[in-house]
Amino acid sequence: MSKVALVTGGTRGIGAAIAKKLKEDGFKVVCTYVGRDEPAQEFNKQTGIEVFKFDVAYFESCKSAIVEIEKKYGDVEIVINNAGITKDRFLHKMAPEEWNAVINTNLNSLFNICRNVIEKMRAKNFGRIVSLSSINGLKGQVGQTNYSAAKAGIIGFSKALALENANKGVTVNVIAPGYVGTDMVKKIDPTILKGIVSQIPTGRLAEPTEIAALASYLVSDKAGFITGATFSINGGQYMQ
Ligand code: CAA
Repeated sequence: MSKVALVTGGTRGIGAAIAKKLKEDGFKVVCTYVGRDEPAQEFNKQTGIEVFKFDVAYFESCKSAIVEIEKKYGDVEIVINNAGITKDRFLHKMAPEEWNAVINTNLNSLFNICRNVIEKMRAKNFGRIVSLSSINGLKGQVGQTNYSAAKAGIIGFSKALALENANKGVTVNVIAPGYVGTDMVKKIDPTILKGIVSQIPTGRLAEPTEIAALASYLVSDKAGFITGATFSINGGQYMQ
């Protein structure tokens, strides 16, 4: 029987590319979204992947949505923590709401989702958790104290969770993309974005499908020995 994969923020951008790839791979995929209904419904129409509207920033919403998903599809064995937002502003101008929104959506969501699936994964001796960090969680970025903190936090969270579950067949890994051609990146002021692209050795933004290809491998049975790892996909923009 095919496994159930949950992709948060899965109706657009990197999440949508991952969801489509995992469907192609034969998984039963479900996606979450929280914003606009129209693109989510369009995604559902195009792909046949069911979309669930709830806010990953809230523990109780995640808990009840996962109960509903599992009733309909079976236990979630694969999680892609992809949902993320930006509220870029220099710290000296940043409002507490801008800090909290980014930390809640981009980092606290990992607790909210994983806490509600991890016990069953451990009981079944199988699970795959892949979370989307960012180049800016590794190197920092002007205007992104909130985002860089959340994206760095994802890496620490994943290493700890990987250790806790390595003997239970559950792997926990991180993908840290650079600048990808998504709505989030297209929101950046064009002059600033031009400057950023000039620092990417490959001279272009990534395609969402290039991120999805690695996610597909990490959730596969072949990747059972990979855990606690962080993979950069950034066109050479930042090398550790
Ligand atoms: N380093 C140091 N200083 C900088 C700088 C930089 N890279 N960029 C600008 N500054 C300085 C400016 O020179 C200016 O200085 P003065 O006030 O002395 O003139 C000051 O900072 C303010 O600059 P701005 O006028 O540009 O400030 P702003 O408030 O209009 O905009 C910003 C600030 C919102 C952070 C804007 O610079 C910006 O959008 N930067 C891009 C941030 C970014 O890369 N976001 C990524 C979003 S996509 C994403 O996050 C996906 C992913 O994972 C990669």
